[in-house]
Amino acid sequence: MRITVAIDGPAGAGKSTIAKMVGEKFNLMYINTGSMYRAVTLKAMEKDISYTDVNNLCDLIDTMEMHFENDELILNGKNVNEKLTMPNISSNVSNYASIAEVREKLVYLQRQISKKYNVIMDGRDIGTVVLKDAAFKFFLTASPEERARRRYKELIAKKIDVNYEHILDEIKRRDYIDSNREIDPLTKAKDAIEIDSTSMTIKEVVEKICTHITLNL
Ligand code: DC
Repeated sequence: MRITVAIDGPAGAGKSTIAKMVGEKFNLMYINTGSMYRAVTLKAMEKDISYTDVNNLCDLIDTMEMHFENDELILNGKNVNEKLTMPNISSNVSNYASIAEVREKLVYLQRQISKKYNVIMDGRDIGTVVLKDAAFKFFLTASPEERARRRYKELIAKKIDVNYEHILDEIKRRDYIDSNREIDPLTKAKDAIEIDSTSMTIKEVVEKICTHITLNL
């Protein structure tokens, strides 16, 4: 049976943790589209290509083979996931993700993957653009403070030296750029179910999503 699940929402709303768990339950391939934008940012910054240098950015993306294995992005044969969540990538990714040509190329790749596999995909424009026809769409939110707290704990656990206030400012700044960019801004699809996870546990959110899918299969 064909099942496609779209999960959108702002940074730190718990999309990836939840999507992985729901994906496991329904045997879906988990595609973290944010990691694809992060991979472009990583490579571009390594090569000193600014987000305004669209021609070089497009050439760069054409050299990047991206696929997912065990929920993680493999870039040109290498697992680069550790690097993708570093603070310097988080600070710059919204700028690269706001470039129309970058989005066009990554949306194309995302749709190609969804044609081959049953997927659960998370991002900002999955329900509105990438998988407009997805049978199941969810829009996951949480207050900026709660999202900053979650990111802070995640980074501290990885022994990365960070400051809560700084993370909160970054989250607010990223929300603003992602929601106000001209092309495919972060917005809830009309037919998406909104879940505010501020005072919910991961388990509760997963259960809510799984119950909805099971009842509507
Ligand atoms: O989900 P994330 O925080 O890892 O995403 C990183 C950035 O990529 C985020 O600032 C917005 C952008 N992004 C996007 O524009 N569209 C997507 N489908 C996924 C992420």
